[in-house]
Amino acid sequence: MPAHAMRQDPRFPNLFILDHPMIQHKLTHMRDRRTSTRTFRDLLRELTLLMGYEITRDLPLTTERIESPLTAMDAPVIAGKKVAVVPVLRAGLGMAEGLMDLIPSARQGHIGLYRGDDARPVEYYVRLPDVEGRMFIVCDPMLATGYSAAHAVRALVERGVPPAHIRYLALVAAPEGMEVFQREHPAVRVYVAALDSHLDADSYIVPGLGDAGDRIFGTK
Ligand code: URA
Repeated sequence: MPAHAMRQDPRFPNLFILDHPMIQHKLTHMRDRRTSTRTFRDLLRELTLLMGYEITRDLPLTTERIESPLTAMDAPVIAGKKVAVVPVLRAGLGMAEGLMDLIPSARQGHIGLYRGDDARPVEYYVRLPDVEGRMFIVCDPMLATGYSAAHAVRALVERGVPPAHIRYLALVAAPEGMEVFQREHPAVRVYVAALDSHLDADSYIVPGLGDAGDRIFGTK
């Protein structure tokens, strides 16, 4: 991975911060409280496509014999099985759209979690494509406490996906959540547009962007 494409934080060896100017610019507009639901959703889709482009840089290639209008050639194509995009419901759906724009042939799984009495995630839905030899991109915009992120990845690992085949994509992470996530899944790479300051008393990321699900779907 070229050093200029990603920044790292010494506390979190598997965290990669995508600090491309276009990504940072779009994130700023998403953070702005004046940004409308419609614009927020569009920006999330565009931003996720750009992030997806960066995190798929090292997908293995093979060649396929084709004929251009001038001659036959062995041309590069992505090797192996199709990638799987796995949004965590509901906010992850907004990111899945951008990833599907980038990789239209990707398979899609879904993981449904809700917050239980003790604020820990409770799983209510998991549906995945077959796992053998496939790369999984799990997406959810806010890695806050890290409990949902860790749970979602655990759901994949329990179904036979090797940690090295999982990439976790979020927009913004909190250090508290990264600690939780890294403790349970030290081999899973996490990609974000920003590592923010901290969580507030209600477990919102500060400065963050508010409730991502509400801002995507216009609920409150
Ligand atoms: N979920 C959100 O949508 N926003 C936060 O800041 C934390 C969790």
